Amino acid sequence: MILFDTYPLGKIQLKNRIVMAPMTRSRTTQPGNIPNTMMAEYYAQRAGAGLIITEATQISPQGQGYSFTPGIHTKAQIEGWREVTDAVHREGGKIFLQLWHVGRMSHASFHNGNPPVAPSAIKPDARYGWRMKTETGVWWSVRPQEP
Ligand SMILES: Cc1cc2nc3c(=O)[nH]c(=O)nc-3n(C[C@H](O)[C@H](O)[C@H](O)COP(=O)(O)O)c2cc1C
Repeated sequence: MILFDTYPLGKIQLKNRIVMAPMTRSRTTQPGNIPNTMMAEYYAQRAGAGLIITEATQISPQGQGYSFTPGIHTKAQIEGWREVTDAVHREGGKIFLQLWHVGRMSHASFHNGNPPVAPSAIKPDARYGWRMKTETGVWWSVRPQEP
């Protein structure tokens, strides 16, 4: 039964060959996009997979493009992730963090009104991006670079 066989991933031994795909959940504590106890519980519940790949996690404030996604660039975020990884390890799971920087798909509302920074000056071929009015918690979609 190959799916449930162990797998040597470099120096890491996976207990089976099931890998949980990264899925953005937007559940961080605000303000600060901080991973929290609910996230630790969510990932620990899935520690039966051979490997968990976390939701995409911005590497800097500039890398954010969606509301409430976790970061790993502040002390509080790193501590929040520590709670998550400790919980997964307690259940015998392995976990990798998916790093992201969303580049041109971000929106000025995440950057104090400044345009997002991307590796190229090419406009995204996308009609909608996401932003959120965090004071009210109301979501709405906009063209990526419209105010
Ligand atoms: C709600 C949701 C959130 C997702 N978030 C991420 C993400 O953070 N990073 C990523 O690489 N892929 C993300 N994905 C893509 C899934 O990982 C992908 O759908 C999964 O690997 C299955 O592939 P498929 O959609 O081609 O079947 C997300 C998908 C869904 C449905």
